[in-house]
Amino acid sequence: MSATQILLLAIAGIGSLAILSIISIAWRRGTDPPGIKTQDSAAVRQDLAAEDKADEDDSVTAYDVAELVSVDSAPTDPLVDRQEVDAETMGVTRRQFFNRGLLGVFGLFLAQFGIASLAFLWPRLKSGGFGSKVNVGKIEDLRIAALTADGRARPVFVSAAQAYVVPVQGSLDGSSFEGLPVVAGGMMALWQRCVHLGCRVPECESSQGFECPCHGSKYNFHGEYEDGPAPRNLDRFVVSLNDADELIIDTGDVIETARASFKTIEYPQGPSCI
Ligand code: FES
Repeated sequence: MSATQILLLAIAGIGSLAILSIISIAWRRGTDPPGIKTQDSAAVRQDLAAEDKADEDDSVTAYDVAELVSVDSAPTDPLVDRQEVDAETMGVTRRQFFNRGLLGVFGLFLAQFGIASLAFLWPRLKSGGFGSKVNVGKIEDLRIAALTADGRARPVFVSAAQAYVVPVQGSLDGSSFEGLPVVAGGMMALWQRCVHLGCRVPECESSQGFECPCHGSKYNFHGEYEDGPAPRNLDRFVVSLNDADELIIDTGDVIETARASFKTIEYPQGPSCI
């Protein structure tokens, strides 16, 4: 099961738990004794006063009627006679219940939004996918695939890596790439994304380069900047060979290089495509 699937399951689980909690609270409120559910402080005070009155009526005798009348008719002090009602006796009011419910739903929404954002931004670390190391296969097979029938070099597009694998032509000494881990088995892996604004850059077979249809940036066969608004060379990935002589493209390790001070390959070698 992938990380995305696990996150989606987690979101669904959290959402279900929250809904169950809200339903549970609502059900509990619905089954409370009616006396508690609808009581407010004034009603509770009235009930308690009525009970006290009834008790006093039961114990009254013929001898203290006059005294009782005088006591009952005396003005009461609300500060002295006030009955304190605790929260448990009061219960949760309808307004409090809805406020808490709304807060719960809002909190649930925020939690789901946060988890979904994390899931979107989390790097895809699944082996073999973009963002991780991609095994492109035997280097010998790549060398064959990177040759046309008439013996010219051509890029091999690897969709899993979003990269063109190009055979290095000549020497890279003194270039922007010298000393960088961007060549393995005589191959480089150029990211297909234009460094100007991110369009996909197609190869141009006739000019032997890469030409961006969005704003006209042009790069030679090694991905060196040639023309247009692009600020640097095409980005490239770190590459290596494993023990089985297979080319590994590390798409999680991108190398940027400045516009080349001199070009390592001629461009264009024919008509441009744009
Ligand atoms: S995105 Fe390629 S030139 Fe602008």
